[in-house]
Amino acid sequence: MCNLNQYFNSSIGKKQIVATTGLLLILFVVGHLAGNLIIYLGPEAFNNYAKKLAGLRPGLYFVEVGLALVFLTHILVTALLIIQNIKARPVGYRVYGDSGERSFATRLMPYTGTFLLIFIIWHLFDFTFIDKHGSRSMLMGHSYGLFGVVYNSFVDPIHSLLYILAMCCLGFHLGHGIESFAQTFGCTNLTSTPLIKRISYYSALIITVAYSSIPVYVFFSYPILK
Ligand code: HEM
Repeated sequence: MCNLNQYFNSSIGKKQIVATTGLLLILFVVGHLAGNLIIYLGPEAFNNYAKKLAGLRPGLYFVEVGLALVFLTHILVTALLIIQNIKARPVGYRVYGDSGERSFATRLMPYTGTFLLIFIIWHLFDFTFIDKHGSRSMLMGHSYGLFGVVYNSFVDPIHSLLYILAMCCLGFHLGHGIESFAQTFGCTNLTSTPLIKRISYYSALIITVAYSSIPVYVFFSYPILK
């Protein structure tokens, strides 16, 4: 018990908790992206996928509660880490990494993280807590279920732009997050660091572009569908 307390109170303990919860969130982001890309297969395939997911309830509730707990732990422990760093360094503070120049993405971490938190709350009200057969699901006079909800959202250019902005924040956050994970668990050295940096950069870029392609695709395909 005492060891667990010591671990949690230490800076490295907190960093490892943030890194591990961050990795679990990345796994969710990748899985969610794979599911969302089914939209390219059309309304039937996308709605079938949503129906199959819904069919996993009540088990899915446990996964969702687990995901929410992981997400809250990630935010709360990051906040504790920031406070601990501020206390340790009254004049300015550094949270991620202790030496050398901090990259642009590193300095942006608290801002991209906060933006993502706001985005996720909005996103849940946008797509999850909504009547999936109501007025927002209607296309050409018919209900297209969840496909229609997503489609109608991204037809609005402001809505789409806000999503793309959120995906860019996600990209910056992930890019640094992956690198930070490797650093926290001591996987970085002279040989591995350039490779880890490249992996972080390209995975973040692929995830950002793949997610952003959905609003862009909807926006440009809408006139054709009409
Ligand atoms: C173009 C981008 C995205 C699209 C089209 C999209 C689509 C959706 C849809 C349709 C749902 C509702 C699923 C349902 O109720 O059956 C959903 C839920 C959700 N999305 Fe996204 N999403 C996107 C990006 C993101 C990102 C970047 C994150 C996280 C950083 C995210 C996190 C979530 C979460 C946490 C839920 C709730 C999951 C659940 O209730 O089980 N989404 N998304």
